[in-house]
Amino acid sequence: MCGIVGYVGQRDATRIVFEGLRRLEYRGYDSAGLALLGDGRVEVRRSVGKLAELERFLEQEPPRGTIGIGHTRWATHGKPSEVNAHPHLDCRGEIVVIHNGIVENHVELRQRLRDQGHVFRSETDTEVIVHLVEAYGAEGASLEAAVRLALRELRGNHAVVLMSLREPDKLVAARLGNAGGVTIGVGEGEMFVASDLPAILDHTRTMAFLDDQEVAVVTRDGFYCVRLDGTPVDKPTTVVSWDPVAAAKNGYKHFMLKEIYEQPRAVSDTIRGRVRQGPASIHFENVPWTDAEWRSFRRVLIVGCGTAWHAGLIAKFMLEDLARVPVEVDYADEFRYRNPIADRETLFVAVTQSGETVDVLVSMAEARRRGARVLGVVNAIGSQAARSADGVIYTHAGPEIGVASTKAFTSQLTALYLLALKMAQARAALSNDALDQAIQHLLELPHRMGDVLNRDQGYDDLANRYAKCRNFLFLGRGINYPIALEGALKLKEISYIHAEGYPAGEMKHGPIALIDEEMPVVAIAVRDHVYEKTLNNIAQVKARGGVLIGVGNDGDEMLAQTCDHLLHVPATNEHLTPLLTALPLQLLAYHVADRRGCDVDQPRNLAKSVTVE
Ligand code: AGP
Repeated sequence: MCGIVGYVGQRDATRIVFEGLRRLEYRGYDSAGLALLGDGRVEVRRSVGKLAELERFLEQEPPRGTIGIGHTRWATHGKPSEVNAHPHLDCRGEIVVIHNGIVENHVELRQRLRDQGHVFRSETDTEVIVHLVEAYGAEGASLEAAVRLALRELRGNHAVVLMSLREPDKLVAARLGNAGGVTIGVGEGEMFVASDLPAILDHTRTMAFLDDQEVAVVTRDGFYCVRLDGTPVDKPTTVVSWDPVAAAKNGYKHFMLKEIYEQPRAVSDTIRGRVRQGPASIHFENVPWTDAEWRSFRRVLIVGCGTAWHAGLIAKFMLEDLARVPVEVDYADEFRYRNPIADRETLFVAVTQSGETVDVLVSMAEARRRGARVLGVVNAIGSQAARSADGVIYTHAGPEIGVASTKAFTSQLTALYLLALKMAQARAALSNDALDQAIQHLLELPHRMGDVLNRDQGYDDLANRYAKCRNFLFLGRGINYPIALEGALKLKEISYIHAEGYPAGEMKHGPIALIDEEMPVVAIAVRDHVYEKTLNNIAQVKARGGVLIGVGNDGDEMLAQTCDHLLHVPATNEHLTPLLTALPLQLLAYHVADRRGCDVDQPRNLAKSVTVE
């Protein structure tokens, strides 16, 4: 997804903006550019490809100035190219824009502006914005007013930053709908704008977050906010605790590997401060509901995308078994198109790491419109999902830079397990002793996760043997069926090998036709209440000459004899096994992808936060 960075202050804007873009690389992009205002000129440098290309241009002809904006583009309209890369300029080359989102009515606007004599240089929808601002400016509007007037004509979701030679001391930033965030960073005699916190965390932790339909005017001395109609908005600042060092690789080859090994801490941090034992209790600091209100929910609706959707599937097992409440899980991108049933007695849970996935955000709005109360399970502090929910359970995983979600996923499972315990207690579905024991199992989990991660389980050997395979099949039953889906997603999204997750019991209804020695089968068979049945499915694979990579409990000799390779995890309570069985599958995917020379942290075509529908 596109990234936005802006700076106005006393320092050289080039380096600050460029390094900010580098911090946003993980969002996925195919071209980049930046512009500075200096000595009465607009200096623009743009390139297709990675930031290293842009850096070359900057070194050849370093632009100078103390106010600038930069952008990493993930192409939607117009191929990845230098001319389509942002920033884009108006006809006179005095006004500059960078933009996240899609101008859904760009065709009619472009035609109208062309008829007025505007000259377009790119194929992008974005360019209509800067020509609209130019047109309003020509009628005498200030930059702020021209931006407000222009934005009122746009359809779609947008995050924009503009600057102009005519008012060279300010940036004008705005947010319409859900095209990723717009964050204002407050410094000493300097100010920052970014679509994502990591871009500016090196410089400040004092932030303000724009909401929908808000415009910020930013100068080196500060900022103010107005709505599209010009009425002032009182915008408080927040000090965020994310540590820029935490967003660095710290010696690991890839962010993803670092984040895999950060999971025990991420889970501990997500638990911290939320559980007490004897008598057991669960506490969520940002959820305002009383026990009576928790009891008033008659059903739970969970939405998410990709990995977050898998977390929702696992939460269904936790909530239905522990709290005895009916749960439905849906893809966020499907939910709002099926005329869903939701009302005041529905708890709508949006699971999202970035908090900016537009399908999730629009589902939240749809659920609220139908009367549901909305709970966010969110990682990104101050994100739109966190701010628009009625209550939020933050997963304290810290910045997740690798596009493939790992520590955010197990942190989501932790938060959802706590939710299940909270609802179980409110509904008196669990005795206090059972609750105490469930909390104890959770508290022991980070140690068990660290144990799994620190084992040498032959991942290199597995990567050597299977990195050239073209297909994988992942099998799991019960609460580990979604882990089969997650293991398949991890492998396919970073190694580009086709991988499919399937309920183990379903294999004989079709996929068994695929079994051969060319397609490794990864089967999760921990000693839970469906263990025996899963062993049968594994035997069916073996009988047809399949290659088996098992994920089983320590000491399971039978499984060891049946499988060609066995990845071991310690035992834990059945609801928490996914937080252990996910780990070997993450490492398997990582080592296979690395062996294939793939771009593990920024896989092709993928983005960390999908802010387009
Ligand atoms: C998971 O590894 C993928 N990166 C992707 O499926 C991701 O989970 C999905 O896009 C949802 O993102 P979110 O949690 O930020 O909403």
